[in-house]
Amino acid sequence: MAATIHPLNTEADRLLFAYWVPNVSGGLVISKVPQRTNWDLESNIRYAKAAEAAGIEYGLTQIRFLASYGASQQHESVSFSQAILSGTTSIKIIAAVLPGIWSPTVAAKQLASIDNYSNGRIAVNVVSGWFKGEFTSVGEWWLDHAERYRRSHEFIRCLKGIWTAPDDSGFTFSGDFYRFTNYNLSPKPVQKPHPEIFQGGNSDDARNNGAEVSEWYFMNGNDLEGFRTQIEDVKARAEKFGRTVKFAVNGFVIVRDSEEEAIQVLREIQGKADKEAVEAFRDAVQTAGASTANKTGMWANSSLDDLVQYNDGFKTKLFGTKEQVAERIVLLKSLGVDLVLTAFLHYEEEIEQFGKDVLPLVRQYEKEGRGKDAAFEIERTGHIYNK
Ligand SMILES: Cc1cc2nc3c(=O)[nH]c(=O)nc-3n(C[C@H](O)[C@H](O)[C@H](O)COP(=O)(O)O)c2cc1C
Repeated sequence: MAATIHPLNTEADRLLFAYWVPNVSGGLVISKVPQRTNWDLESNIRYAKAAEAAGIEYGLTQIRFLASYGASQQHESVSFSQAILSGTTSIKIIAAVLPGIWSPTVAAKQLASIDNYSNGRIAVNVVSGWFKGEFTSVGEWWLDHAERYRRSHEFIRCLKGIWTAPDDSGFTFSGDFYRFTNYNLSPKPVQKPHPEIFQGGNSDDARNNGAEVSEWYFMNGNDLEGFRTQIEDVKARAEKFGRTVKFAVNGFVIVRDSEEEAIQVLREIQGKADKEAVEAFRDAVQTAGASTANKTGMWANSSLDDLVQYNDGFKTKLFGTKEQVAERIVLLKSLGVDLVLTAFLHYEEEIEQFGKDVLPLVRQYEKEGRGKDAAFEIERTGHIYNK
């Protein structure tokens, strides 16, 4: 049975929306500010249903094996994704997997099975790891940055190869990290050629994997120049391989009746930051970033205030009235963004509110031809990134 299309999502060139699934405790900000966001399954099925009703087409689970950025409890991403899929009918869930901890054999098998159970609604985010303490705690080798990404590169090639290999010959691969001989996975995924593959970061290594092997390149929150240069750069790298890649960006959304009110909420989140946890997070990501050759890793230019949203979601500045936030979103589209990954302070009501207030406005602007001319959108809205 084909999933029903939401009335807001009929145009092929529409911007897509995702939301961060809160499958770890503490919400999406490292702050002691009160949040109406829960991390249990029952609440998450409610959020996913609200997202479906709102026209948000994807959810993204995160993978953690250990407390970090204050997230003292963490549900496992693949099983959590499957549990959400079984409670919903149309949303796609992007499950995070960590090469090293997962082998491509296990990931390909799990995700193919889930694709069958869910009628083609699973996708995968291959994350390369930044948290050394997590790897060493569970007895995994902590490879340096370039090697982690080289392993992810092979991992993604193996996923694709296993999922698409002909039944008669199966999948054969000989790499530095993985080897297969005539492996025939059955059943194959129902999505053809295979479930969508996301991966991201900011470093050269992450960009190269975006250019060479993944279908989607995920970015942390950023400003106008940060997004523009990264998108142009990854596109140029992909062209060398005769490929195109789609772009997804993270943005923390605060919609209120006035811009001042929205900024006030941001100040409160940052003012009540869990300082100890933010500083521990900064130390961990700096350890990871320090091993990139040219220090272009994610979080390289993030202030402590930025790190309160652990994927730099404040930098994207999706704060203000519904009209302001919709304008900022069409600006992102004009830069070449294909998907906006949202997060909220109060999941209990803000997913629904986003669907009621912001998404229809974005669709209206798209109908008016907005989001195509970067010079026009920058002229109109780009100044917000100068503040
Ligand atoms: C949208 C997004 C989601 C991510 N989710 C996870 C995750 O669930 N678990 C994890 O360990 N890392 C996650 N990462 C981190 C990346 O896989 C990678 O380790 C990080 O981006 C390092 O970036 P760098 O190569 O620029 O240093 C995520 C990154 C992005 C942009």
